Amino acid sequence: MSWFPERQQHSWLQRTCGSILKAGPIPKHVGIIMDGNRRFASKNSMDRAEGHLRGFDKLADTLDWCLNLGITEVTVYAFSIENFKRSKDEVSCLMELARQKFERLMQEKDMLQKHGVCIRVLGDIKLLPLDIQQNIAEAVNFTKNNKRAILNVCFAYTARDDMCHAMRELASGVSQGLIRESDISEDLLQKCMYTSSCKQLDLLIRTSGEVRLSDFLLWESAFSCLAFVKVLWPEFSVWHLYAAILHYQRNHQALQNARQSSKLEQDQLTRESDYRSVMEELDKQADEKDKLQERISVQDRVQQYATLRQARINTFLNQLEAERTNMLENMVSKRPVSCAS
Ligand code: FPP
Ligand code: MG
Repeated sequence: MSWFPERQQHSWLQRTCGSILKAGPIPKHVGIIMDGNRRFASKNSMDRAEGHLRGFDKLADTLDWCLNLGITEVTVYAFSIENFKRSKDEVSCLMELARQKFERLMQEKDMLQKHGVCIRVLGDIKLLPLDIQQNIAEAVNFTKNNKRAILNVCFAYTARDDMCHAMRELASGVSQGLIRESDISEDLLQKCMYTSSCKQLDLLIRTSGEVRLSDFLLWESAFSCLAFVKVLWPEFSVWHLYAAILHYQRNHQALQNARQSSKLEQDQLTRESDYRSVMEELDKQADEKDKLQERISVQDRVQQYATLRQARINTFLNQLEAERTNMLENMVSKRPVSCAS
């Protein structure tokens, strides 16, 4: 299938190399920092708007290449909160591009449904102009149940802003009494982030020769393979993608080992936290302590505590999800929550 029906046919060599790569592990979720549009424009004597447009076309090609390889989720850095500091003209040009592309997507509703395409927009979308908030909310709402191919567009996003936003959600959960401070874990913080619905990030690609993450998916890339590619984003080709996949395959086992150790460590920390909480409760009820221990072992109490902790967390996360759904539905029905411009 293709994300965009009019896209190019793939050559025999490209398909053959793709099939060979598919014999090895293929990342399920790839993140891309599409950097170098303006340098490409100046190198080719174009204006900046044309550079960004070429960047968008390259994204469409790349999504096709990814899907053909079996990469079902792609997250792209389309507009960072820092990008608001660019010239008024350039910000307007990027907003206009987003406006047009989201409108176009909504004209392709049948195609999106037919191919099971899910579009998510990750970031503080309240910072965007109202009409774009609405376009985004409509696309996200319309495609939210599709699972076959997922495109996460990071828009008005930085990773550190996402972490702060997740921490505010947790603080609010604690102050409302939905969760306890001791319930907070790496896993719970992750579930409060904009990226909570995303699969584990396997591979992160940055073009243009820069070798930093520029506040993109900092939390999610803790156990991801990083590939820095020298070409400017509009020059990125299927062969650069294949090289990045090969780099991932060479490092796949080491990544799996690191993830597994981290998971074991987190599970151990949770067990220790539950045990501490139970002992603290027992200490508070000192006179009842002996009586309780006679009837129920500490181990069983920790088990009961873990069940209650999970129930608290589920209630909190369900409320968070309901608030997010509500916000999107309000935006679709032309009642945006608030806006900076
Ligand atoms: C980085 O190149 C690119 C951007 C800030 C914008 C990326 C956006 C697109 C490719 C369009 C995607 C749009 C949607 C709606 C998905 P740069 O501007 O930093 O160029 P430079 O590094 O050469 O200065
Ligand atoms: Mg740049």
